Amino acid sequence: MTNTFKALTLFSVLLLFLHSCKETKPDKLVEEVPKELPSLKGSFANSFYIGAAINEHQIIETDDKGIEVIDREFNTLTPENNMKWMYLQPVAGTFDFEFADKYVALGEKMDMFVVGHTLVWHSQLPDFMHSVKDSAAMAAQIKNHINTVVSRYKGKIHAWDVVNEALNEDGSLRASLFQQVLGDEYVEYAFQLAAEADPEAELIYNDYNLWKPEKRAGVVRLVKRLQAKGIKIDGVGMQAHWSLVGPTLEDIENSIIAYSELGVKVHFTELDVTALPNPWDAEGAEVSQNYEEYEGDETMDPYRGDLPDSVQMQLAKRYQELFKLFLKHEDKIDRVTFWGVNDGGSWLNGWPIKGRTNHPLLFDRDFEPKKAYSEVMALKMKDKVTYNKIPSE
Ligand code: G3I
Repeated sequence: MTNTFKALTLFSVLLLFLHSCKETKPDKLVEEVPKELPSLKGSFANSFYIGAAINEHQIIETDDKGIEVIDREFNTLTPENNMKWMYLQPVAGTFDFEFADKYVALGEKMDMFVVGHTLVWHSQLPDFMHSVKDSAAMAAQIKNHINTVVSRYKGKIHAWDVVNEALNEDGSLRASLFQQVLGDEYVEYAFQLAAEADPEAELIYNDYNLWKPEKRAGVVRLVKRLQAKGIKIDGVGMQAHWSLVGPTLEDIENSIIAYSELGVKVHFTELDVTALPNPWDAEGAEVSQNYEEYEGDETMDPYRGDLPDSVQMQLAKRYQELFKLFLKHEDKIDRVTFWGVNDGGSWLNGWPIKGRTNHPLLFDRDFEPKKAYSEVMALKMKDKVTYNKIPSE
């Protein structure tokens, strides 16, 4: 653990201690500082899994600082890219499990809740899939891919993003390659195959902008359709690619409640909070959007150095508000996964505009905890520090 991190965390504990002294105004306090300095996973152990998407350098453990943060702070992992169809089956019938095997082995070594991302997604498909036009052939490809991949990691991958981003913003089914060739039922088919290949793994529908009322209604229809056919679905993954100002806590909360009422768990699967201005209409995380005309435009890339304190405070406040809401509904939420370990590794440095400097996560480019980390930790730190409260007269 780096000295800065230790100093910062001790400082947070001290701050809290002083803050609570002010709050409780007791004459004398016997205060127990936790033996083991808490981490995110330690602090939220009784609430939900907390983790990150990891990249290939972290999977093969060549990113020492990243591995240090991952091992200390997180108890769940997601592969950012290496288990997508184009990497696992780049050529029809030829599988490449090198990175996926290393990812799963790392998760086992660190005793993590291991997530598989993602079985069926219209993006990052290998070229051969785009030539599959016949429904029987498409069904055969989906069956072969899911059976081969899920059965290989049976009992080792604890949850799968079975289908990713199948809905349009209005809640209708996206006219993806799968939907066009196989029809709407491809969603049911994918979940059915995954459940047959590993009956124990938790099966999740994952998408962005699931705070939107119209898209929420689309998810409710999708989950109810699966349930009506007796097809296993265990969770809804709200990706949570959000900004400093949106979406509202109310919209997020309404979706948490709506999904929970279906009898499934809520997973926040790809949490990050962009601190940069977005070009107009850049919604959610639809990766097909790109804005080359803004490349190099300083107004769209205002924080090329460190994030100014004022924006650090906005980010810290936003994360604190989000985690307060998560804790309020911790009975409905199984997991909160950040989409990346630290700012330097975030996909948001290159989307929707390439070559920007974003600051969306809890750890900075030196893998040091930011103000946002302290504010998130402070929400649970009080549970860690016990006081002998002097009853007021
Ligand atoms: O692997 C190649 C490498 O060989 C090449 O040198 C390099 C430069 O062109 O590109 C590398 O591929 C990139 C890949 O990430 C791995 O780094 C692709 O160009 C790039 O498009 C891809 O971006 C990923 C994006 O999904 C596109 O699929 C992001 O890293 C990843 O964070 C992002 O994650 C998605 C989730 O899977 C689903 N939800 C939305 C989320 C954000 O788009």
